[in-house]
Amino acid sequence: MKTRVLTGITTTGTPHLGNYVGAIRPAVAASRRDDVDAFYFMADYHALIKSDDPARIERSRLEIAATWLAAGLDPNKVTFYRQSDIPEIPELTWFLTCVTAKGLLNRAHAYKASVDKNTEAGEDPDAGVTAGLYMYPVLMAADILVFNANKVPVGRDQIQHIEMARDIAQRFNHIYGRGHDFFVLPEVVIEEQVATLPGLDGRKMSKSYDNTIPLFAGGQKHLRDSIMRIVTDSRLPGEAKDPDSSSLFTIFRAFASEAESTAFRQALVDGLGWGEAKQVLFERLEVEIAPMRESYDALMARPAVIEEILQEGAKKARAIAVPKVAELRDAIGLRSGT
Ligand code: TYM
Repeated sequence: MKTRVLTGITTTGTPHLGNYVGAIRPAVAASRRDDVDAFYFMADYHALIKSDDPARIERSRLEIAATWLAAGLDPNKVTFYRQSDIPEIPELTWFLTCVTAKGLLNRAHAYKASVDKNTEAGEDPDAGVTAGLYMYPVLMAADILVFNANKVPVGRDQIQHIEMARDIAQRFNHIYGRGHDFFVLPEVVIEEQVATLPGLDGRKMSKSYDNTIPLFAGGQKHLRDSIMRIVTDSRLPGEAKDPDSSSLFTIFRAFASEAESTAFRQALVDGLGWGEAKQVLFERLEVEIAPMRESYDALMARPAVIEEILQEGAKKARAIAVPKVAELRDAIGLRSGT
């Protein structure tokens, strides 16, 4: 039996280095293994929670699809689709909503962060919080459970969501299973080396912090300019640098071999200037990114090709999702014609 591996990216922005090393690169590597059956998707239902700008969502969806393909994903081997092409996902979301404790969702990091921010500002704790944000973890559980995914490779920020998906699956199995497990309990997969890639300012690289380094957008020049903007301390050339407190070094390590990282670490300790260090980082990134950028640009120029691939992917995904949801409908008392 093959291991089902599944992951998604929310279509609200331009793919950045964090998405690439935290999710795309490990997921593409996993998809090449013969014992893996991979499901990768553009989370555009999730995007609606964060953005009410249709043009931005459409653009981001295209960029993310082109990024997956440019990073080497083979759509003939992987089930590669757009979340919103699978209407069984929101249907399952509702089934899961009805077995999910409200208290579980109260503990979700993204929801709690909004409540804490409002409370600190002396406002109504739920000001500006939509029911969509609150339900985010249930939609994500449906993404994973509808395909009975065994493994979910993600960055560290998503661990809690996978744990919640396990809780929700267990609860559903317990209520309706009577000895039969409808859902497999998914396991999180974290690339320890790069679990959280820092951004320009040293905080987690994130669209919400506006500190991202885009993977392809803006081309080589933009990549170089962004790297030059990474915040460093004020130590001058010749002064020893501390690699472990430098996001520049952390990003380098996520792209380099053990031997290259050891050499770069030593150069920093020996006093390499930050300007030169940034140039070294840029050149190392380019070795991996430049060839992919060429395919990315070619794909972005042919959106119809991407669309065709996604339509095929939706067919493959629905071949699994439709019977799964039909089985669940029967189990919960929604059998038609009775
Ligand atoms: P999203 O779109 O925020 O991020 C996509 C993936 O990139 C990872 N990531 C990072 N990894 C390392 N360092 C960083 N700085 C960094 N920033 C982002 C994220 O951890 C994620 O793996 N809810 C998800 C999308 C989603 C999903 C799913 C994922 C929807 N349904 C089902 C897995 C399974 C999200 O918003 O990811």
